[in-house]
Amino acid sequence: MASKLIYVLNGPNLNRLGKREPEIYGSQTLDDIAALLVERGETLGCEIEMRQSNHEGHLVDWLHEAEEEGAHAVLLNAGAYTHTSVALLDAIRSITAPVIEVHLSNPHTREPFRHTSWVGQAAKGTIAGFGAQSYLLALEAAAGL
Ligand code: DQA
Repeated sequence: MASKLIYVLNGPNLNRLGKREPEIYGSQTLDDIAALLVERGETLGCEIEMRQSNHEGHLVDWLHEAEEEGAHAVLLNAGAYTHTSVALLDAIRSITAPVIEVHLSNPHTREPFRHTSWVGQAAKGTIAGFGAQSYLLALEAAAGL
């Protein structure tokens, strides 16, 4: 069986995971999460392409790239751009690959400015609030699409 290519795109400040507000985001680093995804991907028949950027345009470019590379799905934790970026909403709408919105925390239990998600308006679905496990749950959902 050919493996399914899954892009996992991470936005601003997620390179600080492990050090950044661990009471909210946990103690695992993004590299730890990447390793978990690769391991789970092997059992699900998924190849993981993991990226992180603090720049909005990189995330837009990588969404386009995922489409051009024939990705089966994209997992997107856009960080704070989730709540601000019409450009990401448009980028998701510009591709056919399904995008699953992922968050470590549950933005709906946090400050009101986190209750709006531009990403969520075009995402296939959203998984939030389970820490690093959110990514693994999203990968399982993506593999099953
Ligand atoms: C986050 C939630 C966002 O509100 C926040 O800006 C982040 C991380 C999460 O994974 O919980 O940077 O996307």
